[in-house]
Amino acid sequence: MSDRYIQNLFADRIGGKNYGKGTEIYKFEKIKRAKRAALAANPDAELIDMGVGEPDEMAFADSVEALCQAARKSENRGYADNGGTLYREAAARWLKNVCGVQGIDPATQVCHSIGSKAALSILPACFVNPGDVVLMTTPGYPIFGTHAKYYGGQVHNLPLLEKNDFLPDLASIPADVLKRAKVLVINYPNNPTGASATPRFFADVVSFAKKNNIIVVHDAAYAALVFEGRPMSILATPGAVDVAVELHSMSKAYNMTGWRLGFVAGSPLIVRAYADVKDNTDSGQFLAIQEACAYSLDHPQITQTIAAKYSRRMDGLVGVLKGLGFNARKPKGSFFLYVRAPKSAFGANGQRIAFESAEAFAQWMITDRLISTVPWDDAGAYVRFSVTFVARNEADERRVLNEIGRRLGASRFEF
Ligand SMILES: Cc1ncc(COP(=O)(O)O)c(C=O)c1O
Repeated sequence: MSDRYIQNLFADRIGGKNYGKGTEIYKFEKIKRAKRAALAANPDAELIDMGVGEPDEMAFADSVEALCQAARKSENRGYADNGGTLYREAAARWLKNVCGVQGIDPATQVCHSIGSKAALSILPACFVNPGDVVLMTTPGYPIFGTHAKYYGGQVHNLPLLEKNDFLPDLASIPADVLKRAKVLVINYPNNPTGASATPRFFADVVSFAKKNNIIVVHDAAYAALVFEGRPMSILATPGAVDVAVELHSMSKAYNMTGWRLGFVAGSPLIVRAYADVKDNTDSGQFLAIQEACAYSLDHPQITQTIAAKYSRRMDGLVGVLKGLGFNARKPKGSFFLYVRAPKSAFGANGQRIAFESAEAFAQWMITDRLISTVPWDDAGAYVRFSVTFVARNEADERRVLNEIGRRLGASRFEF
């Protein structure tokens, strides 16, 4: 059987000869399994899914119409490669009009990505040699770190703690780590904590980067989804374009997760290196998608409508969770509410159950209460509720939130 020698050919970075033989089950797979089991045990019950990390609605009708029209144009049919002038110009306009970033040159300081995930997987190739260190916040979206490790790099984790408003403590990095560090990856509004950055924090990051000869990758996938004020870009910080790139995405801000488009903007030198490796990785996103997304970027009211919905849902959810004893505070943006997991609760059988981790609490929530959340135990025990749950309309939204309150009402949580 050829499988036998194929098994011996796998690269060490994915486990070598042991690839696929591990028995460890990853968190998201455990959640999926628990959901399936809970549904099988309660076939007629409604599982309330607060674990989803993507919008619950489709793209706005005008964006879809713009795609239909653009798809009919012969000139949009071929490989886009790194091209797509309409989108890169719309991106520079959007940064200026929505985030107040002046002077971004669309030709040299913007290049599209097939979603920010793709950009996070490409950028490590530009900077990481074996032994180099990448500074990353934890908990967080791991893609940059995964690829950095593929190239022999090391990840130094910076915990996001409530006492620091979920901002990393840059002064905590040991000198020998800092000496080998090349990249700092940050993400605000943050997944999963929902925290936002401040102008002061961005200014500190820029001066930290310059002082230590480090580049900054700001993953701004949720940047436009804010509940107050205007979206914040690190590129509006004086000096940031010398050392940073920012990754934006159509996925969350425009309900376009499946469309696969975003952009990398900032330092011309970093953007050029990204574009060179990208050119050797993909052939660009369909120009018709780029054109429809350029139309969407020029209509930021789409995002404002989406953000208003999440803000309303967030208010409701914070109210329900506070009533149950959670220390829930409405974030300034994103669609995530991150709350400390309780230490114990009363179960359906009237016995108090202790939770030794957020994961144990989340498993209980699915199994006992048919409510799905995502647990994080990386820097304290927390669970993430996402307000992208499915509801038919505002009345149904309120029903779902009340139902959460009802299902958890008798739990007498201890924290
Ligand atoms: C923090 C963060 N960055 C990037 C992404 C990827 O987004 P995209 O759809 O643009 O690839 C996600 C998606 O969940 C995310 O949460």
